Amino acid sequence: MKTHLVKNLDDIQGDVLLPVSEEMKPLAEQPIAKSLSLHNQTLFLDDFESSDSEVRTLYTGERRIILLKLGKNTNSDALIKTFRRFAKKNAPLLKNLSSIVFTSPSIDSKTLLSSALCGLKVGEYDGGLYKQNRSESKTDFDLGIYIENISEQELSEICIKAEHVAEVQMRVMDLMNTPGNRKSADTLADWANESAKKWAYEADIFDLGWIKDNGMLAIEAVNRGSETPAKFIVLRYKPENVGNCPKVGLVGKGITYDTGGLSIKPSDSMIYMKSDMGGAAAVLGTVELAARLALPIELVAAVPVTDNLVDALAIKPGDVIGSYSGKSIEVLNTDAEGRLILADALNWMAKHENPDHIIDLATLTGAAVRSLGYSAAALMGNDQTLLDSLIAAGEESGERVWPFPLWDEYFDELKSDVADLRNIGLKPIAGQIIAGKFLEQFIENHKSWAHIDIAGTAFGDTEFGRNKNATAYGVRLLLQYLENI
Ligand code: BES
Ligand code: ZN
Ligand code: ZN
Repeated sequence: MKTHLVKNLDDIQGDVLLPVSEEMKPLAEQPIAKSLSLHNQTLFLDDFESSDSEVRTLYTGERRIILLKLGKNTNSDALIKTFRRFAKKNAPLLKNLSSIVFTSPSIDSKTLLSSALCGLKVGEYDGGLYKQNRSESKTDFDLGIYIENISEQELSEICIKAEHVAEVQMRVMDLMNTPGNRKSADTLADWANESAKKWAYEADIFDLGWIKDNGMLAIEAVNRGSETPAKFIVLRYKPENVGNCPKVGLVGKGITYDTGGLSIKPSDSMIYMKSDMGGAAAVLGTVELAARLALPIELVAAVPVTDNLVDALAIKPGDVIGSYSGKSIEVLNTDAEGRLILADALNWMAKHENPDHIIDLATLTGAAVRSLGYSAAALMGNDQTLLDSLIAAGEESGERVWPFPLWDEYFDELKSDVADLRNIGLKPIAGQIIAGKFLEQFIENHKSWAHIDIAGTAFGDTEFGRNKNATAYGVRLLLQYLENI
């Protein structure tokens, strides 16, 4: 994607994309009318239906003017979605696009520009991973941009960043959209290794032998029903030439397929369970993005990866397993497997890495989906400042999080008669909180930990498919959070 600044409207060339915001004046009255030969156009804002992403094409001489209606909501997420939908649905128009003219004074120029570029790029995503005619060749944009208050230098920086963000999001979407029979712990490990080599950060892949030798018994237990050995992926990104900077520990749930194990899932909900590594994907993507953008922050990531299958050796409801922390766990439901592998990863992170903050992301509970739907992820933790920063980053990025409490009484649900704790509450209440409370037992009293349950937001209805598919949720939330701190 290449861009250059067009300073004079008379120099605009070729087909033009003209985003139209709510405060648009009649076209003919706009300063751009003369240069773009729009002075005879009678189009008013009322001519659009109220929805965003509506497209009208005007023909003036040799050129197309493509009007793209922006919605009322002009935060970056809404803007990205508008441009993404536009690109996805109007591929032929996009091919000949040579310029974008931004004339929406009420929207911050940088937000508008970066959202537009990121959205146009991601909008070319094709989820047909195994289709013979998957569109590989992406449009190679070379766009003239007319926009006020942006210098050539700023344009170039915004363009480069938008491209990195878009590429990482698409790579994360690919990982998530890969079906369970075509991805395993090795797939994520290879992804991490290749990414680390390319973007010059560190990846250590620990195999099942290491997992057992080191007493990660909860990961081992979940992996026992599988023919494919689990992996424990550790990533480290350190910025160069930056003195004292915060160190953030990221942990992501990497279940490459969740059948539920012997507490098997109903088939209607099992069909989406290739997405159960959404936390892992977001964490892998975020570390790659931090390295690509050379963020001045230190990151360490721990990603436990296995599938959750049914086999003769699989753990059974009622089994008692060990864990890295030394705590014994009565597994009353093998479908609550995410918290088991996270327990070991969080405990490892808290014991050995001493990060300033620990944030875990996981497609952890149906309860998070029932309480918030697809509009926000469920947030829990023990440090109000960290939680507030994540809520703010969620608002800014549009990848929202919403808080739930971790009061002591919720722990009563996790008391076991035979073991130190059990992995589920037996009442059908507050499932996302009980899961968070379970994780809290493994953070070694770390003072700043947050848990983000992304079960409702990681995989959903998008313009990219007929059925639910990857959203890459978490990448922009974490990027915003890291930039803010
Ligand atoms: N992977 C699921 C959670 C999930 C549900 C993710 C819907 C995405 C969409 C998780 O492993 C799970 O099955 N959790 C159980 C826990 C229960 C047994 C306590 C659930 O939420 O039903
Ligand atoms: Zn499960
Ligand atoms: Zn799961």
